[in-house]
Amino acid sequence: MRILVTGASGLLGSKLCKLAVRKNYEIYSVYSQHKPLYGAPVQFDISDKDAVEKIFKKVKPEAVVHTAALTNVDKCELEKERAWKINVEGTENIAESCEKFHAFLVYISTDYVFDGEKGMYKENHKPNPVNYYGLTKLKGEESIKNLTDECCIARTSVIYGTIPVAGKTNFALWLLDKLERKEKVKIVTDQWNSPTLNTNLANMILEVSERKLTGTFHLAGATRLSRFEFAKLLAKTFSLNTNFITLASSREISWIAKRPQDSSLNINKAYQTLKNKPLKIQEALEKMKKEIEPF
Ligand SMILES: NC(=O)c1ccc[n+]([C@@H]2O[C@H](COP(=O)([O-])OP(=O)(O)OC[C@H]3O[C@@H](n4cnc5c(N)ncnc54)[C@H](OP(=O)(O)O)[C@@H]3O)[C@@H](O)[C@H]2O)c1
Repeated sequence: MRILVTGASGLLGSKLCKLAVRKNYEIYSVYSQHKPLYGAPVQFDISDKDAVEKIFKKVKPEAVVHTAALTNVDKCELEKERAWKINVEGTENIAESCEKFHAFLVYISTDYVFDGEKGMYKENHKPNPVNYYGLTKLKGEESIKNLTDECCIARTSVIYGTIPVAGKTNFALWLLDKLERKEKVKIVTDQWNSPTLNTNLANMILEVSERKLTGTFHLAGATRLSRFEFAKLLAKTFSLNTNFITLASSREISWIAKRPQDSSLNINKAYQTLKNKPLKIQEALEKMKKEIEPF
């Protein structure tokens, strides 16, 4: 299969390309600044419509996994124009080219399309984003539904895993590093989501692409956790001292953008449909441990 992966240098994209190359797929790895490690690298800005079309014409992908986005939630709040250009206009460009060149599209969306008032959201719950990042990702969902027929919207939540080529850390690696150095960390107890191991997510997305499953799916970890519970489990799995983790309330943290309180996702549809199931937290953490050993 020939797949074009946008955001190939990111936390999810890099893992996805690695696994797809291992399956002997022909992978084209799109990036803007950080050269990806896996697949054939292709550099362009997704907000440049002509550049997007040119690549589709050349590569003729059978499937596109669109993970590229401005993912920094506070940056999106501060740089709204840039966030719109990448997350909305960039997604429209990708969707239009998918339709024109008959490629199946998997768009990676987020639990942040929900307001976090209820938690355990199903695919048909009404989105109501509380920050600009969530709004741009929701607009992206609407655009691809309007512009393409053959597409899947895959919403996920707090991705973690081994370090991507872009060098950006993630919550799990940041925490493990702090605890290794015996530094105290304050972690919030009043925010819940569905932490998702990038390897588990990448395998589910590859299956969706192979089977060309259309519609919306919640592809996330199978366990709802507060950030504090997640931190404790991480520490225990990696045999690190949990005493360095102290409790905090989200009121104490000076975020620029508002966060949904409980954006956990109900993954029953994915569980029933896919051969690659969403993993429960302990299973996912053991898998991550194996991936980064020796730690
Ligand atoms: N991380 C999470 O916890 C989380 C949770 C829910 C949903 N999601 C969604 O999952 C997807 C993947 O997230 P991630 O954390 O893996 O992302 P990430 O690590 O922040 O990587 C973002 C990727 O997007 C690329 N990119 C950014 N602007 C671009 C542009 N103008 N043109 C081309 N490429 C561009 C970056 O390329 P360069 O490195 O070359 O700049 C990078 O490869 C995103 O769509 C995000 O909204 C993430």
